[in-house]
This record gives sequence, structure tokens and C-alpha cells, in this order.
Amino acid sequence: MTIDLAALPDDFLWGTATSAYQIEGAVAEDGRAPSIWDTFSHTPGKIDNDDHGDVACDHYHRWREDIDLMRRLGTNAYRLSIAWPRVVPGGDGPVNAKGLAFYDELIDGLLEAGITPSVTLYHWDLPQALQDRHAGWQSRATAEHFASYASVVAERLGDRVTHWATLNEPLCSAWIGHLEGVMAPGLTDLTAAVRASYHLLLAHGLGMRAIRAAAPNAQVGIVNNLSTIHAASDREEDLAAARRMDGHTNRWWLDPVHGRGFPEDMREVYGVELPERQGDMELIGAELDWLGLNYYFPQTVADDPTGPAPRVRTVRRDGVPRTGMDWEVDASGIEDLLLRLTDEYGARKLYVTENGSSFPDAVRPDGTIDDPERQDYLVGHLAACASAARKGAPLAGYFAWSLLDNFEWAYGYDKRFGLVHVDYATQVRTIKGSGHRYADIIRGHADGARRAA
Ligand code: IFM
Repeated sequence: MTIDLAALPDDFLWGTATSAYQIEGAVAEDGRAPSIWDTFSHTPGKIDNDDHGDVACDHYHRWREDIDLMRRLGTNAYRLSIAWPRVVPGGDGPVNAKGLAFYDELIDGLLEAGITPSVTLYHWDLPQALQDRHAGWQSRATAEHFASYASVVAERLGDRVTHWATLNEPLCSAWIGHLEGVMAPGLTDLTAAVRASYHLLLAHGLGMRAIRAAAPNAQVGIVNNLSTIHAASDREEDLAAARRMDGHTNRWWLDPVHGRGFPEDMREVYGVELPERQGDMELIGAELDWLGLNYYFPQTVADDPTGPAPRVRTVRRDGVPRTGMDWEVDASGIEDLLLRLTDEYGARKLYVTENGSSFPDAVRPDGTIDDPERQDYLVGHLAACASAARKGAPLAGYFAWSLLDNFEWAYGYDKRFGLVHVDYATQVRTIKGSGHRYADIIRGHADGARRAA
């Protein structure tokens, strides 16, 4: 398969992505306080093998080595998240100077290496204090505290960081954390979930305003994980189920941040009153500088009239390739979504902020790791991205998930998404075949750009 690299702009960002809790470790060091993920992962039975992020990839101590890996991959961008409980351990109140200093040094290190940092302020590690005091995202206070935390970080890093995202995948925080109970804080309560979704998007709006006030050069966006949704059959009930699933997965998160309010059909499906106040929708719908797409897999659904909202059942399609997460592989989904964001939502600038695959990796006796399935996934999805760009999607960058194998939330360390293998016993990092392949592709794009110049 070939990738139409000429369709991608010369200044394309070729990056990798990670998040704080998944790689940093050092959870009790230098003033960091617990987050809801520390609590959740230490609750017996919540995580495969009872894994947790206490040490993870020890990135807190090994970040220089990790920047070196990025350099060896040839990437020119890196998407990281800041740990709120490291910077403002109580959620609000005193700022932890050592926590901020860590990110300050990391940003300088990236810039020295010629790597553009893209900073996400919230990748699920809510300070536990806010969960205890305000029931976390169920309350407006958490959104307001997020804005204060965003100001602190933007004031400190905004002279060097221009790429900012408020939230990563608010769908996971709201639906998986408050409705399905599989992620922190582990609730199964529709009212809590809908209220959380509202306050998360309010936090985005308040945070965006705070970042722009503190860092006038900031380019601010939000990162959503979206899926293409297919109906299991042509039955009217299944077609309606697919529309509901599209509302639940895509429109609920896209419409409000594009100034369209929350979709009416989904308000009816949930039947939960939103904690709206005057002026909120203007904040939430303020114009974005860019939109981030995290894409992994498509979903096929059927009607489930007696199930919980959104009353759909996921249908497993036979005979389709799957990753080690049991997620369907379908690269056409990333192209369809990029074009939908362009045509239906008028996106001005798009980034694929995450895309990648987990497969069990075999380390050969000589220490190398060949991962043909991950390479195929990478190349297939990059080809689909380039095709979307050729058709007009304003795609400005691609961040592979992930730089390193890391703590994959409820699945613990068994699921490996890295372009770089991590031996957790020794913390030795080894670039996998997919990492070398990514480096070749990046080089190919640069060579093409040079030839065209
Ligand atoms: O590891 C996660 C990441 O934290 C958020 N997006 C999906 C990835 C793979 O599940």
C-alpha cells in the first residue's frame, strides 16, 4: 500500500502521543497528589492483573531518553498531557512549583530537540480531592477549577507552547467513567454521566478562554474520539439505533463545540435535565482553532429497546480483521471522519491526535521486535489520512498512539500500543519495526518536500 505523501503539507506535524498517568509514574513524588485514576487502579478488581500507574514507564525520570527516542523516530511534534494533580494537587488552591517545573523542563527539552509540543490539559487524571469535595465532573465547581488550573499552566508555558488542547476524549470521562463504570470514577449512573458530559464541555469552554487570556499566541482545540457508526441491518429500528449511537458517540461531542448546542434527539434519549446557565453555550461553542480526531475503530449497532441509553447493542461482525483489543480494523473510517469534520462541521484545521493499534509483541532472541500487523495498521491509516487530505480535509498533523507501550487503563500493561517497546522490569526501550517504518515514512515525506522545493 502506498501513502500519497504529496497530499500532506510540507509543514505537516509528524508526532507521537502519550498521556501523563499512562507513562509518568512517580505518583507520590515532588508534591503530586492522587488522582481518580490512582484511586480506581488501586481498587481491587478494576484493572487487569491489578496493574496501576505507580511506576508506568518512569517517564518522570527518563524523559530525556524519551525525547531522544522521538528524535530517532524523526518526529517533529509530541502530544503530551499535563497531570493536574502534579500542578495543582488539591484541584484548586496552591500551585505545586515542582510539578510545574517538571513540565517546564520537558518543554524546553522538546524545543531544543526541534520537537513541537502539543499540550493537552486533561487526560482523565482528575485530582481525587475534587472527586471527594464536589463529586468531580458532576459539579460545575470542577469546570471552574479546571479553568484556574488552565490559566496557571498557560501562564507558565504559553511563552513556548502554542498548541493547546483542553480535554482528551471527554466521551470516555463521561460515558465510560460515569455510565459504564469501566473507567474512573467507576460510576454507572446516567444522570451523573450526562451532568459530567455537560461540565466537561463547560470546562473546555472556560479553559479555552483562560488559555487564550494567558497565552495570546495559543492555538486551542479539543480532542474527541469518534467512530464511524453502521447499522446492523436495514430495519428501521437498527437505522434509528445507528442514529442514536452516532448522537452518543459523535454529535453530542461535536455539535456543542461548533455552536450548535446539544443535539435535541439525544436530550430526549437521555431524558436528563442539563445544568445549563445563561452564557454557557456561547463559551462552549466559541470558535476552535483546530479540532483533534482520535480514531481507532468503527462500530456496528442494532436496536436494543430495553437496554440502557442509548438503547443500542454492539454487533460483532465476523470475518473482519481485529487488533489485540478486539477492535475492528477499518482504515476507511478515519478518512470518512476527516471528511465529515470538514464538510459537515466546517473544520478549519484538523489533527489526527491519536491513532494506533495494540498487538501482542514478540521480542526476538536478538532483542528486536517485528510487528507487521501494527505496521499494516499504521500504513493503512496514514494512506487513508492522505486520501482525505487529497480530497480537501485540512489535515495538519498526525500523532501516532503511542510513543511507548504504557498503562492501558482498565487493561493494564498487557495491551501494547507503542512504536517503542518497554520492558517494564528493566525500563529498557526498544524501537519496534513499526517505529522504524514510521521513521521511513516521515523521511519520505521530507524528501518529497525537498524535491518539490
Ligand atoms: O490509551 C488510550 C488513550 O489514553 C486514549 N485514547 C485511546 C487510547 C487507546 O485505548
